[in-house]
Amino acid sequence: MASYDVAALVGSLRKDSFNRKMALALAKLAAPALALEIVEIGDQPLYNQDADANPPPPWVRLRNRIKAADAVLFVTPEYNRSVPGVLKNAIDIGSRPYGQSAWNKKPAAIVSVSPGAIGAFGANHHLRQSLVFLNMPAMQQPEAYIGGAASLFDGDGNLTNDSTRQFLDGFVKAFTAWIAANSGKA
Ligand SMILES: Cc1cc2nc3c(=O)[nH]c(=O)nc-3n(C[C@H](O)[C@H](O)[C@H](O)COP(=O)(O)O)c2cc1C
Repeated sequence: MASYDVAALVGSLRKDSFNRKMALALAKLAAPALALEIVEIGDQPLYNQDADANPPPPWVRLRNRIKAADAVLFVTPEYNRSVPGVLKNAIDIGSRPYGQSAWNKKPAAIVSVSPGAIGAFGANHHLRQSLVFLNMPAMQQPEAYIGGAASLFDGDGNLTNDSTRQFLDGFVKAFTAWIAANSGKA
């Protein structure tokens, strides 16, 4: 089977982010079927439609990186029951100029991670609302609302819990099949 190039966007800029740890753990679990790379979004100037005529270099880099990817994985916390601004900003940048969205038709999956009990469900589903408009086939099952994040990782970022590892292993296998079915690349 082909190895798919997956752009992973992490919705937290925090140095010790649980979501970043999750993205890195998923990259380990998913290799070699998925070559999962975190695409940094912390350097992106706030989206301003006036700048589309002469876009800042970080916007161009982000748009080109997404266009080159076979699929996109969003790994995000929930801020105030919604998508963190840094991630929404990246989504808006990638969606423009009008008619040239980098997201169009890219297979996607979402993992939401929170120290709280409901696993950032609100962010996960607000994000799905944008993906519908962006025409991204978003994997429906398994859903991944990961709660209790503070006890998921050891000091080196390894997953400490077998049942979480097994769940995530199933998640990446399903995502690989989802990409095969929706990317047009066998
Ligand atoms: C501005 C802000 C809003 C937050 N809102 C929520 C929330 O709505 N739901 C939730 O589960 N956690 C919320 N949290 C707590 C985050 O889940 C927690 O800070 C988490 O560690 C962030 O993810 P990270 O570890 O990847 O940075 C919020 C945190 C911040 C800073």
